[in-house]
Amino acid sequence: MSRFKVELKKIVDDSYDIEIGFGLEHTLLTDIQNGLAGALHRFAVITDSTVKDLYGDRIYQMLLEAGYQADLFVFPAGETSKTRRTKEQLEDAMLAKGYRRDCCIIAVGGGVVTDLAGFVAGTYGRGVPFINYATTLLAAADASVGGKTAVDTPLATNLIGLFNQPRKVYLDVAAWKTLPADQVSSGLAETIKHAIIASQELFQYLDAHMEELLTIEPEACAHIAQENCKIKYQVVMKDERESGLREILNLGHTVGRAIETVSGYRLLHGEAVSIGLVAEAELALQLGYVTEAERDAVVSLLQKAKLPTGIPDYIDREELVKKLYTDKKVRDGKLRFVIQKGIGNVVEFEQGVFATPIEEAVAREIIMKLS
Ligand code: GLY
Repeated sequence: MSRFKVELKKIVDDSYDIEIGFGLEHTLLTDIQNGLAGALHRFAVITDSTVKDLYGDRIYQMLLEAGYQADLFVFPAGETSKTRRTKEQLEDAMLAKGYRRDCCIIAVGGGVVTDLAGFVAGTYGRGVPFINYATTLLAAADASVGGKTAVDTPLATNLIGLFNQPRKVYLDVAAWKTLPADQVSSGLAETIKHAIIASQELFQYLDAHMEELLTIEPEACAHIAQENCKIKYQVVMKDERESGLREILNLGHTVGRAIETVSGYRLLHGEAVSIGLVAEAELALQLGYVTEAERDAVVSLLQKAKLPTGIPDYIDREELVKKLYTDKKVRDGKLRFVIQKGIGNVVEFEQGVFATPIEEAVAREIIMKLS
């Protein structure tokens, strides 16, 4: 018998830039011309049926005009497209067009597009580079930054995926002007989450500037794009693979992701997170980490952002309690929650431990009472 040791120690540098600005298509092209994708000349532009006409076509044409090989791959807009089936269809379409490993994917769109395209990039030919061109507030606040890529399954959201970091992220704030009002609010839910976990100043800013944000006033939007990024990447740089600290970005998502699935995606991601933030503020109140005034401030800011703060009548609350167990923070069959501490902070239960076990009965009571 023999035994061999395969030495595979790695030093990885996955660093990348996030560029925030207004109308960044030409910056993207200049970066590619200056080597962002190395010597690659073939680009798969992945987008959805809504973003195609607004930005996807433009970026695709721009690449062709600059002498690159490019194709546009379009799937139907909406969270219900974020599936293994759509991933397979995109991969088959790329294979049919002759794409091999010498290509780069450009994701143009919101969180569904960047999550899906980043996952395709992670497995296509065992991995090709990708670039995120984020056109929504939700993608700017959360999805396009940090390297989480995934698809949903009928059981729950985001259970199948990869950590896969993009070559660069572009946050095109000008694109928010074309968002429907409910998508703006949905993105604001992730922004409010960031404020709750890390910045009382951002919380106050959101409270004072909500009207400007809802009407996409450029200066206010640029400010929150920067604040979202700062908060998120500071967490991701310390704990990319979510072994501890990164769980704080899950505030509101234990209940939020569950309610999003139980709603059959009638609720947008941010709408579901908003309800989750209220439920989890209620939990923090019960555990003595926030005051009633702080809980009320969370509810009132979410309402100011035109987000729902109660569980809709069509949600089966028993099913919702069961669905909590699909959360990735569950350990040994126990629900675990991140708990906010006042506004602008979270509870660290032990060094590096930011989620705590909560009895189902406690979570159930909050869910049953939340109106
Ligand atoms: N959306 C939470 C995270 O990126 O960790």
